[in-house]
Amino acid sequence: MHDIRNVLELARKAGVAVGHFNVADLVLLKAVLSSAQDLHVPVLVGASEGEREFMGVSQIAAVVRSLREESDFPIFLNADHTHTLEKAIEAAKAGFDTVVFDASALPFEQNARQTKEAVETLKGINPAILVEGEIGNIGSGSEIHQFAPDLSKYLTTPAEAKQFVEFTGVDVLAPAVGNMHGMSREMVKGESKKRLDIQRIAAIRAEAQVPLTLHGGSGTDDEDLRQAIAAGISIVHINTELRVAWRSGLEAGLSAQPSEVIPYKILPFAVMSVKLAACARLRLFNGVTQLPVEDECAVASTAREQQVPS
Ligand code: G3H
Ligand code: ZN
Repeated sequence: MHDIRNVLELARKAGVAVGHFNVADLVLLKAVLSSAQDLHVPVLVGASEGEREFMGVSQIAAVVRSLREESDFPIFLNADHTHTLEKAIEAAKAGFDTVVFDASALPFEQNARQTKEAVETLKGINPAILVEGEIGNIGSGSEIHQFAPDLSKYLTTPAEAKQFVEFTGVDVLAPAVGNMHGMSREMVKGESKKRLDIQRIAAIRAEAQVPLTLHGGSGTDDEDLRQAIAAGISIVHINTELRVAWRSGLEAGLSAQPSEVIPYKILPFAVMSVKLAACARLRLFNGVTQLPVEDECAVASTAREQQVPS
């Protein structure tokens, strides 16, 4: 039986990170699972409150559970950025493996009090569930922003991280370490990259003593991601990069077949486009350097290295 706690422990020992990708439909889910299967690495899929509302809370839980059971593959489901206890309880009851309880918009003490209550309540529903808490400000919205905001004054300190983890009992912590949700237009074009504070990550990991999640992974410099994982990041969240790939794949499917109306003839273009984006990130997070040449993930990685549109 697959267990996310065990997967995180193995990742830490191996010095790699588990990729977390948000899904809003079956195109994204198929693409992410297929990438992870090609690379033989475990994967987390996440659904935010909005994504859950669109797909149905118990419906996405049932789909991921059935994929895990039928394929005997380590795919796990996270209730991403859950802002109320009510929505967190709903996800825990539906069978989500992990919950990101996000009260980070509140002042630190209130955030800590609400997160502690969430940890106690959710573990009362499912003792095996993992609960992640968030501190600091990394902006909101996995979308394309006009400008990248300056969030440097909201970075997490190691002392805050220690205090928060000890008080709340969270299993995983999401700090603010130079990361940010969403991408600027320059980032989408590859003209600028998010940069991370690696020393801060290492100091936070040493004080917090729990696995760390890096949110807002889209558009982050590859070498910074490698160093962040070596410094103690165990989960990396990617959403906007997949959304951009989803849209461009869909547009390619529509323009290649202007008269087509059959969804399963158009949507494979979007699946492949998302898969190529997910493969590149999973490969980096897991330090996968060797791939069989006929593999779709190998094609994706080669295209990316040569900077040709995939
Ligand atoms: O929780 C989701 C993420 O943190 C994704 O952020 O859209 O910048 O990749 P991103
Ligand atoms: Zn996030």
